[in-house]
Amino acid sequence: MLIQLAVMGLLVALIPLTLTWVSNDADKYRKLVWITLFLTFDLIMFGAFTRLTDSGLGCPDWPGCYGHSNPLLAHEHISAAQEAMPTGPVTVAKAWIEMIHRYLAMAVGVLIITLMVIAWRRWIKSGRTELKFRPWFPTLLFLFVCLQGAFGAWTVTMKLQPVIVTIHLLLGLTLLAMLTWLGARQNVHAPVSSPGRPHRRPAARHHAHARIRRHRHAARGSETAQGLAADRRRHQRGRPSLHDRPARQSDDALPQGRRPQQGQEGHQQTAARIEHRIRLPC
Ligand code: HEM
Repeated sequence: MLIQLAVMGLLVALIPLTLTWVSNDADKYRKLVWITLFLTFDLIMFGAFTRLTDSGLGCPDWPGCYGHSNPLLAHEHISAAQEAMPTGPVTVAKAWIEMIHRYLAMAVGVLIITLMVIAWRRWIKSGRTELKFRPWFPTLLFLFVCLQGAFGAWTVTMKLQPVIVTIHLLLGLTLLAMLTWLGARQNVHAPVSSPGRPHRRPAARHHAHARIRRHRHAARGSETAQGLAADRRRHQRGRPSLHDRPARQSDDALPQGRRPQQGQEGHQQTAARIEHRIRLPC
């Protein structure tokens, strides 16, 4: 029967998983995180609905309903209980409400397991460098959803003990907050830093900066080479170099010993420009 219940959870989870898989979103992991967050919010709403409609004991056992994976198969038992007490706690409608809450909870569990597996695989594949896929938090989420499932079970088996129901509610809200944090962390522009370590750039931004730096160096190199080639062509044609021109006014500002001599300034300026382009940090 546990397998049948797991299949039900998997079937519900297949809808968001398929939606994520077929979407055109370039970052499917991020999308799955937000879909899991959305489904958890729905689950909490449905939990509140379960409580408000007094359906908490619509199925008085755990994990199934009278030992079955769905209220259709347990119809005989549910009808008998409803006949004995028409206002509940067990009625056909209440049994469905309670079981739908459990199916949704299992679907959330399947989605969190999927997130954890993806994070671990991508983290190991990237040589443990891709910060976005650090698996510790998804693993913590998995442990947390198991704990919440256990409190869900105790909510039923302990006949809605107020302290257990309250803890179940608080854990549900904490799970939602944790998923929200994971969702916010998916934003590539958000800085990711770890305690005790200096602030680090997210990998995507770091690569972009490296690319810009490479292009800048290449542009400078080609600019310098073009200038030198032009100079050489002018020299071959017997024309003065582009840099053989009277000293600029700013040269007058230089100390006496460092002012370029007549005829020398062109070469000095060319040399200075080459040096400047090669040594200038980004
Ligand atoms: C991720 C998993 C789960 C979440 C986030 C969740 C969340 C909630 C929330 C927010 C409530 C409303 C509590 C209140 O208003 O006081 C609730 C109610 C309830 N949940 Fe869950 N739940 C989860 C899993 C489960 C599971 C696995 C079960 C049972 C096997 C379960 C059984 C119940 C029951 C019986 C109630 C009604 C309590 C009452 O009538 O007082 N929950 N749940």
